[in-house]
Parts: sequence; C-alpha cells; structure tokens
Amino acid sequence: MLNDDLDIESPLEDLDTILVDETALKSRLHELGRQISADYKGQEIAVIAIINGAVIFVADLIRQINLPLQLDCVRVSSYHDEAKPVRTPEIIDRIRLDLQDVHVLLIDDILDTGNTLSKIVEVIRKMGPASLKTCVLLDKQTPRKVDFEADYVGFVVPDEFVVGYGLDFAERYRQLPCIGVLKPELQNPPEWG
Ligand code: IMP
Ligand code: MG
Repeated sequence: MLNDDLDIESPLEDLDTILVDETALKSRLHELGRQISADYKGQEIAVIAIINGAVIFVADLIRQINLPLQLDCVRVSSYHDEAKPVRTPEIIDRIRLDLQDVHVLLIDDILDTGNTLSKIVEVIRKMGPASLKTCVLLDKQTPRKVDFEADYVGFVVPDEFVVGYGLDFAERYRQLPCIGVLKPELQNPPEWG
C-alpha cells in the first residue's frame, strides 16, 4: 500500500481526454473472448503477444478465452533508422514456441502504420503455422504505410497519440485502467517501441 503522506500526482491527470473507459474495455474484452472461443471451437491455439504494449490486453483477453491455449511473447522495438526516414520494427526477443501446424493468434496493442504486425506475420508464416490470425486492441485511423488489416479489433480510435491499458509514452502510462489522449504539452516526439 502507498503511504498516504506520499504526494504522488496521479498519471490519470496527464490525460486530455478519455477515449475508452474501464467499463467499455471490460465488456469489449468479454465479447472478443467469446468470439475467439467460438471461431476456434475444438482447437488449441497459441497466443503470441507483442510486448511490451500488448501485455495488459493479452493478460485480460486470454482469461476470457475458453480454449486450450499456449502463450508466448515476441519483443519488438521500433526506431528511427538514421539512414532511412522510416520506423523499422526489429525483433529483439524471438518466439520460443514451436508454431509448426499450430493455430496462431498474434496480438498487439495498436495497429498504426501496419509495419510491426506485417513484419511479425511474415516471421510467423515462415514457422509453418496451421493458421494465423491477428488481433489488436486498437485500430488507429491512419493511412497505413503497408496494406494490413487485423482479423479482430477491439476499438477503432482516431489518429491521436493514445496511452493507457498497456500503451505507453516513453514506457510511462501503461498502468492506466483506461485509454486516453495525453495532454498536448506532454506530447514530445516519442520513441515508440
Ligand atoms: P505500427 O508498426 O506503426 O503499426 O505501430 C505499432 C506500434 O507502435 C505499437 O505496437 C505501439 O507500440 C506503437 N504505437 C503506435 N501508435 C501509438 C500510440 O498512439 N500510442 C502508443 N503507442 C503507439
Ligand atoms: Mg509502444
């Protein structure tokens, strides 16, 4: 427990607007879990979480999935390559599970340019899965850099920088129970990853 005397400002106060509140998250996760359980009925799946961003979403979603399930993570970092003015996702911790002939559900926090998911999809396809689908908590309404759509989407959000429920700004705000837009004065060019 936190000492009541500690003067810690709530990170929630750094939000300008709340886009998705706790109640909406809870009910959408319940629906997604039911849909995934029905779609894969009678099969085992392997959930691959792209961390760190998907960590909270995946932890809550898999507890709404009524199927035998294996879990693994892939750590990806996106950065500005000095030589090329594009964000290049790079795998910095690879998948350990054997995905050969396995039904794979790849999960990320947010689909933005599509670079991250399309790159990981390519990597997983080479591992010979029986099937491969993708699921994102948020689908940001941006012009995609690559042609990519997710099979399961929690919420569609406008083209704004959002944090909370796993999404970060410089590794902060992941613990917020809701998803919101940071106050403009707190938004500097982020190092997304
Ligand atoms: P994409 O590769 O451009 O589709 O972006 C996906 C990754 O960028 C996500 O996994 C996030 O880590 C990060 N990202 C994109 N938009 C946001 C945002 O609004 N807030 C926090 N992270 C974001
Ligand atoms: Mg991130």
